[in-house]
Formats: sequence, structure tokens, C-alpha cells
Amino acid sequence: MSAARQTAPLTGENAEPAPLLELAGVRAGYGPIEVLHGVDLKVGPGSVVALLGPNGGGKSTTMKVCAGLLPLTGGELRFAGRRMNGISGEDAARLGVCSIPEGRGIFPNLTVRENLWVGTGTGAKLAAMEEAAYSRFPILGERRHQLAGSMSGGQQQMLALSRALGTDPAVLLLDELSMGLAPMIVTQMYDTVAQLVAEGLSVLVAEQFARAVLPIADTAALMLHGRVVSVGRPDEIEDQLSSSYLGG
Ligand SMILES: Nc1ncnc2c1ncn2[C@@H]1O[C@H](COP(=O)(O)OP(=O)(O)OP(=O)(O)O)[C@@H](O)[C@H]1O
Ligand SMILES: [Mg+2]
Repeated sequence: MSAARQTAPLTGENAEPAPLLELAGVRAGYGPIEVLHGVDLKVGPGSVVALLGPNGGGKSTTMKVCAGLLPLTGGELRFAGRRMNGISGEDAARLGVCSIPEGRGIFPNLTVRENLWVGTGTGAKLAAMEEAAYSRFPILGERRHQLAGSMSGGQQQMLALSRALGTDPAVLLLDELSMGLAPMIVTQMYDTVAQLVAEGLSVLVAEQFARAVLPIADTAALMLHGRVVSVGRPDEIEDQLSSSYLGG
């Protein structure tokens, strides 16, 4: 029986899929100041993990570590089981980890098309990227020659999302997708994210305001003072969230 167990494939129905992205005891910070004090987090294939918690808890810092933009000072960052400590942002993108940073990271003084062109840095072809972007968001096609900074917040977020998707990521990191957007636009953006997830994308999304993302999240993680203090079903975490916010 034990022999059978040893030879059993890892892909059986009961086997948990290996996380695409995993943080184990991750420590990181800015200069001498440690902000992440041992973060544990897993994002499984085709799933949405919502990273929630109050201002300054370390959500964006965690995203930067995942995107290869901030070095770890302890613990491990793994992608599909492989240790990725010390990886650069470019390497992370090449491995399929792609991020939309807080504030969207688009260039306001470049046109829609030029912003997409900037996104071709990892090898995606501009024509293919434009086609994908304009079919997903027709308004971007209409505005391809318009300066990105002159568009609405929702349209800028569509552009940021299109640019990130142009590199055909396996894992998408979204930091405060809802920031500055009208509730209806936020719902539309998360509907789009849900479609992408149905097509196989995995998503880690950080949100200070949980309501928008919880309906599409499979798992939620509560981050306080540089640690993930709780992981569970979105509705369970939402209850804890309100009490931890009220408790400061
Ligand atoms: N570039 C930086 N240099 C120094 N300290 C920073 C820097 N960025 C963030 N911090 C500090 O790190 C801590 C965590 O910040 P972080 O931005 O990760 O939190 P957050 O959970 O994303 O917050 P928010 O909900 O406001 O986006 C805070 O104390 C913040 O002041
Ligand atoms: Mg943040």
C-alpha cells in the first residue's frame, strides 16, 4: 500500500496543484527598514487570491517582491516550485509573472498605441498586442492615437491591463485595480479579470477595499503589519477584515 502511494501520480484528483506562485517566510523592506516580516502566500493555477488589509500593511511591497522589483532579505519566492529569489523584473516577466503596479504604470504623455509598444519589450509583437487590446476593449481602438493621460481612469486601467496581457502572463499581479475608479467601472474591470481567469490565468490582487474583488476571489488573505495573518474563504476573511480595520 505504501508502495502504491509512492508511485501514485501527483496529478490525481485529490492532489493539490502545485502553486504557481509561492512566498514562504518572505522578508523584505526598504533600506534598513524591514516591512515584510515573514510572508506566506500561495497562488494556485487558475485561481484568484485577494490580498486584503489596511493601509501600510505591506500589500504593495508583497506585490513588488512577486514581480522581481524588490529583493528578498529572507525566505523564498517560488514560481511553479522553482526558487526565484534574486530574480529581476524582466526575468519575472519572461517567466510569466506580470504586474500592474499601484497607479497603473502607464505613460500619460504617450498615446495608447505607444504605451502598448512599450509593453512589447518582452517579445510580444505590437500588431498582436493591439489586436488583442482593441478587441477586448474597443474604446482603446478608437483612442489609439490619443494620449493615455487624457483618457478616463477606467480607460487607463484597460490600457494597463492590455499591456500586461500582451506578454501572455501566467500570473497577473494587480495592485489596487479599483483605485480612483467609479464602482461600475470597477465591476467591469473585475468581470474582465474573471473572464481571463476562466481562460486559465492566475491572479493575485491587492485591494484595500475588499468589496470589489471578493466576488471573483477563490481565496482571500488578510495582511496586517507585514504578515499574512489569515487565509481563507473570501466571506470568512471579509468578516475579519472589518474587525481588524475597526481595531486599527
Ligand atoms: N519606497 C518606500 N520606501 C520606504 N518605505 C516604504 C516604501 N514603500 C512603502 N514603504 C513603507 O512600507 C510599509 C508598507 O507599505 P505598502 O505600500 O507595502 O503597504 P500597502 O498595504 O500596499 O498599503 P496601501 O493600502 O496604502 O497601498 C509602509 O509602512 C510604508 O510606509
Ligand atoms: Mg499598496
